[in-house]
Amino acid sequence: MSTPIIIDTDPGIDDAAAISIALNHPDLDLKMITTVNGNVNIHKTTSNALQLKAFFNSDVPVHQGAATPLINQPVDAEHVHGETGMAGYEFPEANYDLLDSENAVKAMKDTLLNSDEPITLVPIGPLTNIALLLKTYPEVTDHIKEIILMGGSAGRGNVTPAAEFNIYCDPEAADIVFNAHIPITMVGLDVARGASLSYDAINELQSQNKTSNMLYHMFNHYHGDQFGKGIAVYDAYTILYLLHPENFTVEDAAVNIELTGTYTKGETVVDFNSKTTNAKVVLSVDKSKFKTMLFDALSYAK
Ligand code: BDR
Ligand code: CA
Repeated sequence: MSTPIIIDTDPGIDDAAAISIALNHPDLDLKMITTVNGNVNIHKTTSNALQLKAFFNSDVPVHQGAATPLINQPVDAEHVHGETGMAGYEFPEANYDLLDSENAVKAMKDTLLNSDEPITLVPIGPLTNIALLLKTYPEVTDHIKEIILMGGSAGRGNVTPAAEFNIYCDPEAADIVFNAHIPITMVGLDVARGASLSYDAINELQSQNKTSNMLYHMFNHYHGDQFGKGIAVYDAYTILYLLHPENFTVEDAAVNIELTGTYTKGETVVDFNSKTTNAKVVLSVDKSKFKTMLFDALSYAK
């Protein structure tokens, strides 16, 4: 039985890796891709999602979501992912006939309420759409199995010493999501800090299949965090965790979002000693299994 999921995303090179797996893996049933402002503006993230949909000749609907964070001004990460958001690979121009006209938040609500079974949400960008969904349509709560998100850190941040990019972009949205009383798994910066994708492994991707070759080209233009000798494919860890939770170390914690600190706004304050917890925090992945997991997951793609 495949797991029904919705990916909310701001592609983004590591987003593209997560989407490539999710669109093709037999154990996952990707119901829709929703786009959000983040790494690049909403027009670019939507256009990138449409280019991936076309690359895979996929029927999975793409819906456009929020153009700005709830309160903050947008902050982008073009210096990490390139001006288009998916630098390094020449896709044909996005075909907007492939974009579903319904807004992302409304589309998520309808899909959740009409589903026979609860759906897992996988947000891998700022949490704006998910916060809007939960606040606008609270009736969806019981239809969400869990939220497995990329964001935050139990240690240091990557935009500031305290804050990770997705949470930093829209801390108020993150605060809403972490307080929604829905099972949440936070796949933060910690995982990649212990297991980055080595440059040798990236070179191997070149010849695995067309998808891996596409990612190889983008990974060579990805200026994300580099821990040791390799790159951090953050968003892909959410999908790998979903497929193989047994290979990850996870701890329950109380996670609160810093909303006001002059130097710490957007920090995920992770308390492993709290008696009340609201999230599972993924801390590491079995290093010996990481590369094989990623290559296996991508082997289902063309
Ligand atoms: C997160 O920020 C983005 O740049 C990546 O796509 C990932 O979702 C990592 O901090
Ligand atoms: Ca992302």
